Amino acid sequence: MTAASSEASGSIEAYDAVDVIRAKRDGGAVPEPALRWMVDAYTRGYVSDAQMSSFAMAVLLNGMERDEIRVLTEAMIASGERMSFTGLGKTTVDKHSTGGVGDKITLPLAPLVASFGVAVPQLSGRGLGHTGGTLDKLESIPGWRAALSNDEMFAQLRDVGAVICAAGSGLAPADKKLYALRDVTGTVEAIPLIASSIMSKKIAEGTDALVLDVKFGSGAFMQDIDRARELARTMVALGTDSGVATTALLTDMNTPLGLAIGNANEVRESVEVLAGGGPADVVELTIALAREMLALAGQPDADVESALADGRAMDAWRALIRAQDGDPDAPLPTPRETHTITAGRAGTVSRMDALPFGIAAWRLGAGRARAEDAVIHAAGIDLHVKPGDTVSEGQPVFTLLADDAARFDRALAALDGAWSIGDPGAVPERAPLVRERITA
Ligand code: URA
Repeated sequence: MTAASSEASGSIEAYDAVDVIRAKRDGGAVPEPALRWMVDAYTRGYVSDAQMSSFAMAVLLNGMERDEIRVLTEAMIASGERMSFTGLGKTTVDKHSTGGVGDKITLPLAPLVASFGVAVPQLSGRGLGHTGGTLDKLESIPGWRAALSNDEMFAQLRDVGAVICAAGSGLAPADKKLYALRDVTGTVEAIPLIASSIMSKKIAEGTDALVLDVKFGSGAFMQDIDRARELARTMVALGTDSGVATTALLTDMNTPLGLAIGNANEVRESVEVLAGGGPADVVELTIALAREMLALAGQPDADVESALADGRAMDAWRALIRAQDGDPDAPLPTPRETHTITAGRAGTVSRMDALPFGIAAWRLGAGRARAEDAVIHAAGIDLHVKPGDTVSEGQPVFTLLADDAARFDRALAALDGAWSIGDPGAVPERAPLVRERITA
């Protein structure tokens, strides 16, 4: 592609967006300077939404080479501020999950890892659609504040070790603009675009190391394990190429994680894990991710289980909540209305499909349909059993939680056929929760 001048609007531009689109449309690699220009010109408003959506569709259809994905990511990082935690005197390690149903792992994980003297700068988001957002869950805690300045973040990492807060708008603004465009142009699913979107924010955040929890299955963003693996490999390569020590776990999201799906109930469950209890799958994933994070921080032999059992992780949690103006002892919101579904027969729970449970919780008010909607913190679903558990006839299977009983019908419609009870003793095969580990 030759550098061209476009003077139509009076500005002199180095490249022509149509040339960049054509190169990708025809299956070629876009040369580095042209790709950097495309992202910069889009952020400045010179390249239009129509042109960028055409380019995004060409990427979705034709893919990108590893080097192009690196350049795209770097260009998105360059569109905004880069944070730095040098001067903290501690290694920083972050975790990113691609999101799932009942995925509250950040809540016990960040304080657990911080209790080993590692700094965990966890910049998190809000939920949209059937997957919940970490900030929405934590905002169930009276007084807790998601918005922190960079100085507050730095001080909390120094004093407490973990911070969970909203990412400022200064990080990768090109991604913000492109992500909103992808959302309305059918181009969210392109692996190069997902990988560069996630990793541009994580690299700009300035963490030393990063562990990715890439989920596959019905309740995940990527339903197919092969695509989840490709996404994980792409992101691990991006992190590694930019000097962030990065590994990924591929984890199963066909069944909701834990027994709580919602916001306040997920906080309650996280506190149980921090108190040394909690559902086995939540504990297993928390420990697996903590081990990965601590290994990257130079502590491969850390005794993670002991920190949950002896209260060290709980102490770090309480300090984290207090530092962000929350009251860890305040009662959490409870729903005005509940509706319990019981087993129609005795047997063994054979299946609980994550996606419909996520959609049902969302319809109960636990999630939002539009970014500006408020979530209802007490809404959601409490599961009383999981696949593999035996039930007798009439035993509670799950309880819907809402502030308005009118929401139950639509939630129940989503759950129609989403779970089943098999013959007594017919224990379903349980696939491992952590399926693969991906390293550079
Ligand atoms: N999360 C992101 O931040 N970006 C994507 O493209 C998908 C999920």
